[in-house]
Order: sequence, then structure tokens, then C-alpha cells
Amino acid sequence: MKIAIYPGSFDPITNGHLDILKRALKVFDKVIVLVANNANKHSFFTTKERIEMIKSITKDMPNVQVDSTNGLVVEYAKQVGATALVRGLRAVTDFEYELQMATTNEFIDSSVDMIFFMTHLDNTFISSSTVKELFFQGIDISRLVPKEVIEFLEKKNNSRSN
Ligand code: COA
Repeated sequence: MKIAIYPGSFDPITNGHLDILKRALKVFDKVIVLVANNANKHSFFTTKERIEMIKSITKDMPNVQVDSTNGLVVEYAKQVGATALVRGLRAVTDFEYELQMATTNEFIDSSVDMIFFMTHLDNTFISSSTVKELFFQGIDISRLVPKEVIEFLEKKNNSRSN
């Protein structure tokens, strides 16, 4: 069985991420969406919330699992027998960042390959930060994220303002 890991902060998951996930499912038998920590980012949602959100969005995708790690993604991949890490590329600017991450992962352990999918043109401008910014400015984000994400954003926003 060919298993891939799709790691990211997913704070929150967007339609752009889902596009990459669906492409990966055409190539791999199982994809584990892995909520991991980017040391340079402070997350809006807790890990538990991000997992819950992704699980509810992918509940009808039988070949998808959702998990989290506080450690290295490559180590997690080896533990579960995954042979590849999937990432999406939106624009040229993503390339340098991804190259650095790919070479770091290669340095840690070269047995796990990085596989890149091109993001659909419609999703190239989406990022988790823009989604949050637009939501807090009252802009309709229903074309950018699944409805569950909007529900989570509303719930979290209400609990913060109470
Ligand atoms: N569509 C839309 N947006 C996308 C996208 C796509 N296809 N692909 C990436 N993005 C956006 C995300 O929304 C995110 O936006 P933001 O910066 O506004 O939050 C940004 O691009 C990149 O986020 P993401 O894909 O979630 O990755 P990340 O850079 O936040 O996370 C980790 C990187 C978590 C995978 C990395 O830090 C990691 O592996 N950490 C674990 C520790 C480890 O193994 N370290 C060694 C490797 S460096």
C-alpha cells in the first residue's frame, strides 16, 4: 500500500489544500493529513480544533486519515510506513520555501520523498492567513473554504468576544 503524508499547519484548511489532497489521492492508496507545527507561526486554532475540522471535512473520503505531530514530519512518516510527503506549489514564491524544506527533510532522512502538486489556478491566491483576514473583515469566504471552516471560525470568534 502506497501511503503519503500531507503535512501543514492547516490553520485553517482551505479549498487550496483540499485540491492538493484530492490530487494526491489519485496517486496514493492512503493519505494522512498531518497537522504539524511551523516553529515560525502562532496558530489561531488549537491542534485539536484543526484535527476536528479536517476530520469533518474529509469524513466521506475513505482513504484519508487525520493526525498530528509535535515532532519531525519525516520521523512520523517512517513510523507509519509512508514513503512520500506531499506539498502544493502555488507560485514561484512557494518554490524557494519548499526547496528549503525539502532539502532539510532530505538531510534528516533521504528515504522519504517529497512530491509536489501544482495548485489549481483558482486557488493560487488563497492562504490560511488571507482566509482569516477576509473573514475578520466581514468578506464572504464561502468560495475559498469548506463550510465547516466558516462554522469553526464563527464559533471561535464568538467564544473570543464573549
Ligand atoms: N492552497 C492554498 N494555500 C496553500 C496551499 C494550497 N495548495 N499550500 C500552502 N498554502 C498556504 C497555507 O494556507 C499557508 O498559509 P499561511 O502562511 O497564511 O498560514 C502557507 O501556504 C503554508 O502553509 P502550510 O502548507 O500549512 O505549511 P506550513 O509552512 O505552515 O507548514 C510544516 C510547514 C508544518 C509542514 C513544516 O513546518 C514542518 O514540517 N514542521 C514539522 C517539523 C519538521 O518536520 N521540520 C523539518 C522540516 S522544515
